[in-house]
Amino acid sequence: GSNPTSNPVDVFRCYIAEELAKISGVDIELVYPALEWTQSMDKGDLILAVPRLRIKGKKPDELAQEWADKWPENDFIEKPQVHKAFLSFFFKGSMVAPLVLNDILKRKENYGPVNTGKGKRIIVEFSSPNIAKPFHAGHLRSTIIGGFLSNVHEACGWDVIRMNYLGDWGKQFGILGVGFKRFGSEQKLIDDPIHHLYEIYVQINKVITEEAEIEKAKAEAEGKKFDKYNKQTYKGPTDDEARAFFKKMEDGDQEALGLWKRFRDLSIDKYKTTYARLNIFYDVYSGESQVSTESLNKAAQMMKDKGISQEDEGAVIIDFAKLGAKKLGKAVLQKKDGTSLYLTRDIGAAMERYEKYKFDKMIYVVASQQDLHLNQLFKILELLGLDWYKKCQHINFGMVQGMSTRKGTVVFLDDILAGARDSMHEIMKKNADKYGQVEDPDFVADTVGRTGVMIQDMAGKRINNYVFSWDRMLSFEGDTGPYLQYAHARLSSIGRKVREAYPEGLDVTKADLTLLKEPHAVNLIRCLAQYPDVLQNTLKTLEPTTVVTYLFKMTHLLSSSYDVLRVLGENKELMLARLALYAAAKQVLGNGMKVLGLVPVERM
Ligand code: ARG
Repeated sequence: GSNPTSNPVDVFRCYIAEELAKISGVDIELVYPALEWTQSMDKGDLILAVPRLRIKGKKPDELAQEWADKWPENDFIEKPQVHKAFLSFFFKGSMVAPLVLNDILKRKENYGPVNTGKGKRIIVEFSSPNIAKPFHAGHLRSTIIGGFLSNVHEACGWDVIRMNYLGDWGKQFGILGVGFKRFGSEQKLIDDPIHHLYEIYVQINKVITEEAEIEKAKAEAEGKKFDKYNKQTYKGPTDDEARAFFKKMEDGDQEALGLWKRFRDLSIDKYKTTYARLNIFYDVYSGESQVSTESLNKAAQMMKDKGISQEDEGAVIIDFAKLGAKKLGKAVLQKKDGTSLYLTRDIGAAMERYEKYKFDKMIYVVASQQDLHLNQLFKILELLGLDWYKKCQHINFGMVQGMSTRKGTVVFLDDILAGARDSMHEIMKKNADKYGQVEDPDFVADTVGRTGVMIQDMAGKRINNYVFSWDRMLSFEGDTGPYLQYAHARLSSIGRKVREAYPEGLDVTKADLTLLKEPHAVNLIRCLAQYPDVLQNTLKTLEPTTVVTYLFKMTHLLSSSYDVLRVLGENKELMLARLALYAAAKQVLGNGMKVLGLVPVERM
């Protein structure tokens, strides 16, 4: 529709739309959305592709020329330039600066988001690690991207439910239970549950594999055959014990469940601390264990009734080929022993969530390795006739190659963040002068290090793989996290220096902003004006890079402006105007960084 955004220069867009509607006779409702921001200044501020208006009977090129000729002289917009079927509109410079900058300085942290999500609810399911298994790169990406997507939606008025769907059920907890009895330590469990449980998991799995090898040798000697739907084909005594332990859990055995619950609770406590370092706070810690038996039974019954599922050698399976979705293959819904699977639990979980939250949208932030799994899930919801399946979306992403800690061990999120902090601290110490001025170097090193990790992850399109590089992500050169933080710190220092030079204070709100006429200033202002549109666009792309790319564009403009648009040493009028410009830039940069989940630093 023609709803203007909160974009301050939308006044201009509305003006253009109105004039064009008058000249062309086309409805303003059609003209307004067809006017688009350009990517570069030489194409104008806004551009109209005449073919988008679908006017019959006349050539778009001729219409463009005709409308340009009829464009009335006015105070806001230059006569449009015609390029084939495109019309380029340029704002008259002096008008834009006051409009944009005053708006930013007035709204402050509220500048950017538009309440387009008001009254709508979204579940963002992200991170979702598996207890007792390493928090791998896939979880890191899910955490970063999911945190960001939650922030953008929240800023734009959505009611956001941040949900962590833990991998906290399944036979691995049988394995873990048995492992803990054999190798566990109470004290270690309390001190460092995540590492300790992982340690146990590795140890006990080694035993299981060794025993399986023995069984395999035996079986081969005897020429035995195995059940095709059971992954672990060869089983030794420890594995049997683990299966029995998990069976006890499923049957509600208090002792087995008690131990499992301690593993879960202690792990969640620990995760919470780590997430807090990333400014992430969950509304719900759900998990595979939380899906109720009733939901699972209900889903199973529905699938049976609709003829979606079928029995096969004692197991229940779904054959998508028979349901018109050949490329989804086959999947097991229930094992021979009656236990549920990852996919089955996801079906139950989705149904419970819709019941409980009646969401308008639900996104699953999960690595693209699970494309098939989520496609199967959504297809099943569709086949079940649950119309809300359309509200579910898989936000997938590519792999991280070569991620390891600096010491080369298994990666846990905590270790990555600690590594980034320590390396950043080393780098900061090399610049002794500056280091001396930083009030809380630990905090800054931690914050900037974390920014490095996060920006590296969000810089490209989600689906692209990237190579994890400590050196590149902590570098101050190129489009890196430290560079972004540096840009923010530099803007802060401009304000600080002026305040030192004028201890009596300066009133930026009194600045004559029409003085900002240089191309550098105009470009920067134009860039700042686009931020609200960037956020709206992000709601469509659901790509962190939409914001990251924008912020780097802004910081590049800033870098090339400092020498041209000096502040101290200029006459007071000009100084005030430029100070306002930099203050506004700092505000927008900071707002953008916060949406990304970053904490902008004042000094580094
Ligand atoms: N715990 C899973 C894993 O680590 C991710 C869960 C994704 N979410 C879901 N609803 N299946 O692989």
